[in-house]
Amino acid sequence: MRRLNADQRHTVTLTLNGQLVEGQATPRMLLSDFLRHELAATGTHVGCEHGVCGACTLRIDGSMARSCLTLAVQVDGAVVDTVEGLAPAPDRLSVLQESFRKNHALQCGFCTAGILMSLDTLLRDTPDVNEDQIRDVLSGHLCRCTGYQAILNAALEAAETISKETKDA
Ligand code: FES
Ligand code: FES
Repeated sequence: MRRLNADQRHTVTLTLNGQLVEGQATPRMLLSDFLRHELAATGTHVGCEHGVCGACTLRIDGSMARSCLTLAVQVDGAVVDTVEGLAPAPDRLSVLQESFRKNHALQCGFCTAGILMSLDTLLRDTPDVNEDQIRDVLSGHLCRCTGYQAILNAALEAAETISKETKDA
């Protein structure tokens, strides 16, 4: 019987924020650790490492995922989007990021990357998103600083702006 060597490193190739990248991962290495330590992509934060706090949320092949519940080797060949890829240009924020800034929707910022990724996915996939749907997504994230109201306001304002831009286009 073939035995798995827990220390053996495997090459993982993925498209990260539009760029083809590769790194080495042991079989049990978490995607969050792989991104942060192997690829130096530290925008994805790690809080609980148990799938509870939402800080490590990103997108894999278009769907929201917890990177602390995903093994690095599982994303070989996948498309992964993280907070580093949200801004359309180095000197410009996305509509959602700009709305967070304007509405003071972050304080320490620890939860922010994960919340932005979840909300960005929701707004992208749900053209006429409503407040209940935004609250539902936020219920998967812990924020110890803001009290959530400013985040909700930011998401609602971003949804309105995106909807207006879509209708004007
Ligand atoms: S670090 Fe992944 S959900 Fe908390
Ligand atoms: S802004 Fe500090 S945890 Fe959310």
